Amino acid sequence: MRWTRFAAVGCVVLAVGLGTVAVGGAGPQEEAAPQEESVPPAAPPRVELPEPVRKGTVSLEEAIQKRRCVRQYAERALTLVQLSQLLWSANGVTGDNPRFRAAPSAGALHPLDFYAVVGQGMVEGLEAGVWHYEPADHALTRVLEGDNRQALARAALGQRQIVTASVVIVVTAEYARSTGKYSERGQRYALMDAGFAAENLCLQVQTLNLAVCIVGAFRDAAVTETLRLPKAHEPLLFLTVGHPRAN
Ligand SMILES: Cc1cc2nc3c(=O)[nH]c(=O)nc-3n(C[C@H](O)[C@H](O)[C@H](O)COP(=O)(O)O)c2cc1C
Repeated sequence: MRWTRFAAVGCVVLAVGLGTVAVGGAGPQEEAAPQEESVPPAAPPRVELPEPVRKGTVSLEEAIQKRRCVRQYAERALTLVQLSQLLWSANGVTGDNPRFRAAPSAGALHPLDFYAVVGQGMVEGLEAGVWHYEPADHALTRVLEGDNRQALARAALGQRQIVTASVVIVVTAEYARSTGKYSERGQRYALMDAGFAAENLCLQVQTLNLAVCIVGAFRDAAVTETLRLPKAHEPLLFLTVGHPRAN
């Protein structure tokens, strides 16, 4: 539907809607219905992440040398400390101002969001679900319950490493945060930002003796629906993380 036609239909719907309100609204003579006590919605579970480590034992050169995409994982949980370190390496705050993060971002606008898709018992101390990372608080908020790895794999050509990974980090972009300043070019910058953040995480994985694979092949709409992502958060890539399977 062209936008002009879409707008016309919208006006009719709005007019009908307003009419309904006007006709159905309680007149001055009518007795007002007793107000039901409103119960505030329960706050989603929130977990403060452990403080990330700032000094490690594996050199940057060793991490670069070791980095490989590994697609086979042992069925073993990650610790919350490990997940904390991974999220911090990709998008954690590293400056006095929350705009300054572990990975660079054009104009420090940070169009990316990070979601951790966790299976039952696959990250110690975290219920299964989809968890949203909040860099300023270094915390996670659960936005969806349950183990969503199977459904996510179906949205990604059935790639098995998504089901066997202890955690799948899904990186999304809200382009408007960048295009507001840089117009169309902002979209290109957001994609570059994702590359920098992902590489940080891939290198951090090496220092933790874990394994990671990048996944870019998936159906965007199916991922959005599976994870109930906000419309503006466009999925860009996944990072499947687990313990490497001993051969
Ligand atoms: C943007 C991008 C998308 C990718 N998508 C997938 C994917 O959907 N599935 C997969 O198994 N590997 C994927 N990969 C991993 C590459 O296949 C891998 O990096 C390449 O084979 C080189 O191997 P290496 O990373 O071990 O050096 C992707 C890599 C990048 C950078």
